[in-house]
Amino acid sequence: MKVARFSRIGFILAAAGSAVGLGNIWKFPYMTGENGGGAFVLIYLLTITLIGLSLFIAEVILGKEGRNDAVSTFETLAPRNKYIWKYSGFMIFTGVLILAFYTVVIGWIIKYVVSSVISLPTTVKEAGDAFGAMVTTDATSQFIYFNIAFFITIFIVTKGIKKGIEKVNLILMPMLILILLALFFYAITLDGFSEAVSFLFVPDWSKVTDTTILKAVGHAFFTLSLGMGTIMTYAASLPKESNVLRASASVALIDTAIALIAGLVIFSFLFNAGAEPSAGPGLVFISLPPVFADFGSLGNIFGVAFFVALGFAGITSAVSIVEPTILYLTSRFNYSRIKSLFIIGLLTYILGVMALLSNVKEYAQYVTFGGKGTFDILDFASSSVLLPLGGIVIAIFVGYVLPREKTYSMLKAYMNDTIFSLWYFSIRYLVPFAVLAVMINKIFF
Ligand code: PFF
Repeated sequence: MKVARFSRIGFILAAAGSAVGLGNIWKFPYMTGENGGGAFVLIYLLTITLIGLSLFIAEVILGKEGRNDAVSTFETLAPRNKYIWKYSGFMIFTGVLILAFYTVVIGWIIKYVVSSVISLPTTVKEAGDAFGAMVTTDATSQFIYFNIAFFITIFIVTKGIKKGIEKVNLILMPMLILILLALFFYAITLDGFSEAVSFLFVPDWSKVTDTTILKAVGHAFFTLSLGMGTIMTYAASLPKESNVLRASASVALIDTAIALIAGLVIFSFLFNAGAEPSAGPGLVFISLPPVFADFGSLGNIFGVAFFVALGFAGITSAVSIVEPTILYLTSRFNYSRIKSLFIIGLLTYILGVMALLSNVKEYAQYVTFGGKGTFDILDFASSSVLLPLGGIVIAIFVGYVLPREKTYSMLKAYMNDTIFSLWYFSIRYLVPFAVLAVMINKIFF
């Protein structure tokens, strides 16, 4: 199987484009708001530093060495018992679950691009009512915008890694960062800023439960695109001379910085308006539009620019969510890119429509299972179960199945012996045991 190669900066842009997405700007702030603020953020930051970064490096070296889909890479690199690794194929399908609800949210964002042109709500209350009405009653427009989001994603994926993904990222990532920074500098001038800083960075441990911990850990996986072979798949296209450590650290840093900046912006605006942080998945749609409205017609332009950039951040991630499954189907079953995309697309489409309807009052009962709607089930199953599980499998492979000398030889060009030992410790002990403990704690206690 021959995979196309990125340019050196192309890989970092694509991996950052994958990592930076709705997870940072839509999900991180609302989860922080729902889970009590600082303590959640601290657990998330600790997980990124101690577990996420090590696993990211592990996925990059596997991808770079294997140059193939995730499952084939496990099989070719495993010194013995190769057949076991076909069971790691479960991680290839995590993406379908994520993409389904992810596309629904990109659909909401596209709808907000359009409504930012027309009119912006002037208060948080008005914005909240509008968002609530869209999600719980307006199945038709959600369905239309879901379709737009879905077909844009599919279209870019048909173009492949180099022409599609690398090009799109080159323009859109810098644009998103610029808009976010502009909002950030404005947020600093607001009274709500200091409240936002203490909400995000002063932990209140009384708010922490086993669910909070699992959610923070799961979100660290989600935000760095770990645990389902996405980074492995992109690294299969890594140019030979790339510095694995520097590329991984840059992506983790950019991703974390963007999430924190987005959190500060959103909570500054929210506290400034005297609103509550626990609005749930509507948070970004509720907190920002009234701020844009303050700027009069200039605000409409800000609104459009923000939601366009957010939509693009979502699309570059959505494309990366599909890629591991595409590479898996094309390389193992010899399917064409189009046929693979058709299969993935069909599954995603069905699940996406179910997810969308599960929030709409009229239809929710048909797509609710065990008291939980499809949207929430997909989110929970992917972030809190499948991604961490995928991470554990990858860590076991790199830490226990591959011989130490082999891993050392893959990394020695980029790190000294002390850093290697720290990394190896994290992969062998921290990742599998800490993540497993968090999962077991949640499920059984
Ligand atoms: N990291 C993306 C985000 O934060 O929005 C979501 C994601 C992309 C998760 C790719 C998993 C993945 F493989």
